[in-house]
Amino acid sequence: MCGIVAYIGKKEAYPIIVKGLKRLEYRGYDSAGVALLNNGDLNIYKKQGKVANLEEHAADKNRSGHAGIGHTRWATHGAPNDVNAHPHYSEDCNIALIHNGIIENYDAIKQRLVGNGYIFKSETDTEVLTYLVDDIHKNAGVSVAEAVRLALQQVVGAYAIVVISKDNPDQLIAARKSSPLVLGIGKDNDFFLASDATPIVEYTKKVVYMEDEEIAIVDLNEGLKLYSIDEVEKTPYVQELELQLEALEKGGYEHFMLKEIHEQPRSIKDCFRGRLNAEEGWVSLGGIKDYEEKMIKANRIIMIASGTSWHAGLVGEYLFEDLARINVEVEYASEFRYRNPIITENDIVIAISQSGETADTLAALELAKSKGATILGICNVVGSSISRITDAGSYTHAGPEIGVASTKAFTAQVTVLTLMALSLAKRKGTISETKFRTMLSELEAIPQKVQQILDKNEEIKIISEKYQDASNALYLGRGSSFPVALEGALKLKEISYIHAEGYPAAEMKHGPIALIDEEMPVFVIATSGTSYEKVVSNIQEVKARKGKLIAIVTEGDDQVDNIADHTIEIPDTDEHLVPLLATIPFQLLSYHIAVMRECNVDQPRNLAKSVTVE
Ligand code: M6R
Repeated sequence: MCGIVAYIGKKEAYPIIVKGLKRLEYRGYDSAGVALLNNGDLNIYKKQGKVANLEEHAADKNRSGHAGIGHTRWATHGAPNDVNAHPHYSEDCNIALIHNGIIENYDAIKQRLVGNGYIFKSETDTEVLTYLVDDIHKNAGVSVAEAVRLALQQVVGAYAIVVISKDNPDQLIAARKSSPLVLGIGKDNDFFLASDATPIVEYTKKVVYMEDEEIAIVDLNEGLKLYSIDEVEKTPYVQELELQLEALEKGGYEHFMLKEIHEQPRSIKDCFRGRLNAEEGWVSLGGIKDYEEKMIKANRIIMIASGTSWHAGLVGEYLFEDLARINVEVEYASEFRYRNPIITENDIVIAISQSGETADTLAALELAKSKGATILGICNVVGSSISRITDAGSYTHAGPEIGVASTKAFTAQVTVLTLMALSLAKRKGTISETKFRTMLSELEAIPQKVQQILDKNEEIKIISEKYQDASNALYLGRGSSFPVALEGALKLKEISYIHAEGYPAAEMKHGPIALIDEEMPVFVIATSGTSYEKVVSNIQEVKARKGKLIAIVTEGDDQVDNIADHTIEIPDTDEHLVPLLATIPFQLLSYHIAVMRECNVDQPRNLAKSVTVE
């Protein structure tokens, strides 16, 4: 994980770096640090905890300098403390380095360096890389840039790094492999580097997304030079950023998560804008159009993802199988890649990822690609690693999601999967024209129905109050509402630290029912549709054990209302689209409970938004 930011140019580097680090805190917040070059001195400040701690620590120190590097850490090797914080630096303080990723062979390199007389201060793999660069620089008598290149040739693992040195005060050296790095070309002969474009966007829209095993040297005199790790000069591909600055701010909401929950009517609309027309009766996903025939004829479609994106995949499975009659398997990326899976050229693998950087998902995709499968992506972050390695794909267009808990990205992923399923079903002839058109109209109506649920925020807040002190919770659903139950449970546990489990409603009697007593809140999706009566029976089983029952029901329902402790009504819709609505009350319930428990909603403990380590 970790976030990195660097700047070189005429402006003061410190404010740019600190502001950028705050934007990247979603990537980790165990410690933060900066290294600033000023009149031949390299000033390094680092502190355990958030960027705010670093600011406090550096407040009375010299923060001047027109070149600097900064880091916000999610600890992998070594505890989150001041010493393990980045930047790491050579003993003579000539070279400082920031790193996102993991150097897998760090121990072997470390033993060698210890043999050469190096004494390590930290427990990190990054200090090993820093000393390796220093060792090569001194012993081979090469420039720092060349030492970086040679050091990286010895490294096994993932890295995005930026190096600064007193030797070359007009220069920053950056490189990446498997961890993201974006380079911004400023208007004023200045350069920016960051883990994503958010720290850069207010200064420039001209960016280069660095590729694997590329090294960039930005030099105030010589400009930008890009090389492959084996020294072949490359032409940078400069792109125009579409990101808007306002999208990165809270816009009056108390938390990013709340803002993102409330953005869903818009983000869902943005997701299907230009891709569906209910009146004319068509749906079209330009990005995968050329692959649809292959998808229809495929042996099977494998959806790979992690966390919330995996839950979206499970909803996708119901949609693809029921509407388009295509065989789908949904896999945890982290399990899939280590299972020696049987993959053939007739398989299609779809990776679902908000960030497009999740290490497990990326590695699983690479494995599938190496076995000849066609690989497609459903990503939110434009230009992300997954979106670049896939053969084709569809963006979710949800806009930047800053809160660590995924909300609008989930509904956008489900929207894309619905559009895909409908398009495939139409092409394959597995859906009637009437059903197809009804579903298009229903999908078009979803944003306004989401808004109706959001308008019940106060009502949901009152229900949340009753359960803020719960220690455990159960979430139940059947059919495509089962993944919604899983997602509801994940939202509650990750931001409020209440233990929660999602189950298929009928599975409850095979074990979890033993947990139910008068203290246990049970959240159930009991909307009208095929399994309604069955769910009502499950609800009776909960009430018979005195569980507290909170049910999501379809407007006008009074059967469940008579049994449940609380009901939250959602508008009626086609059964396939219920996940898009039923998930909203769960997001709000988790949000309010977490706020009432005084938890850090946007940056829950131990988590990071983008999990770029395996
Ligand atoms: O960026 P991705 O969608 O690949 O991330 C996958 C998971 O890490 C992510 O969904 C995680 O589970 C969220 N914190 C859930 O809210």
